[in-house]
Amino acid sequence: MKLIGVFDSGVGGLTVVKELIKQLPSESLIYFGDTARVPYGAKSKETVTRFSIENALFLSKHNVKLICVACNTASSCALPKLRKKFSVPIVGVINPGAKEAVYTTKNNRIGVIGTKGTIKSRAYEDEIKRLNPKIKVFSTACPLFVPFVEEGWLNQDVVLTVAKKYLQPLKDARVDTLILGCTHYPLLKKVIKKVMGKKVVLIDSAKEVAIEVKKILSGKGLLNKRGKGRVDFFVSDNPEWFKGLTESFLGKPLKKVKKVDNV
Ligand code: DGL
Repeated sequence: MKLIGVFDSGVGGLTVVKELIKQLPSESLIYFGDTARVPYGAKSKETVTRFSIENALFLSKHNVKLICVACNTASSCALPKLRKKFSVPIVGVINPGAKEAVYTTKNNRIGVIGTKGTIKSRAYEDEIKRLNPKIKVFSTACPLFVPFVEEGWLNQDVVLTVAKKYLQPLKDARVDTLILGCTHYPLLKKVIKKVMGKKVVLIDSAKEVAIEVKKILSGKGLLNKRGKGRVDFFVSDNPEWFKGLTESFLGKPLKKVKKVDNV
């Protein structure tokens, strides 16, 4: 059976795996987390692109029918190069998240939050403008959110204080839709909602990319409709650290995570 390959800089891509399992319970997945080289968020476009190609090469050795780039930073930097290099469909998080935000906004003012790399690339902004040039996009990098989530700090006062500081410009800009443009941010939804207010719609890229994967596989007649799929997890370093974080990202602890020596 052919697999869906998923890669991320580390553990965050499990938010995408969780959604893929929900949307496509009969599909089997292979996940690769580049824990030896995480985080990608502050690295250069060239470096993130090189790592992404190596990650996709690893997945392509495992009979994959599609590669999902769960990492927002990798999606922002490397999609064109990946699409040139690999023949299977490459699905990133940018277009699905942007599409949903464009569909959702009523006042044509969309906010985007992500890592420094994602925001610097302007990938979400460009995609939103391509879909609807009238929309105004306001972007802010929130680099402290990733370490907070990895510390398991989801509701602490310090997180709220930092979130207020990062998100104030987006509140001032009166966005009515906010893209959570990083794998880790869905875990901070409560705090982000508290700061932005109930009326602002939060767009979860993880959920949107799973819907897109389903659409693409279905369109190509590659969808598995029977049986229960499985997921194999691989990392480039520190499987114990990865395992320790899986419960909060995936909703269940993992027993088996294999370490890969040469990506
Ligand atoms: N996975 C990254 C992203 O979605 C966040 C973690 C990192 O910086 O590597 O942008």
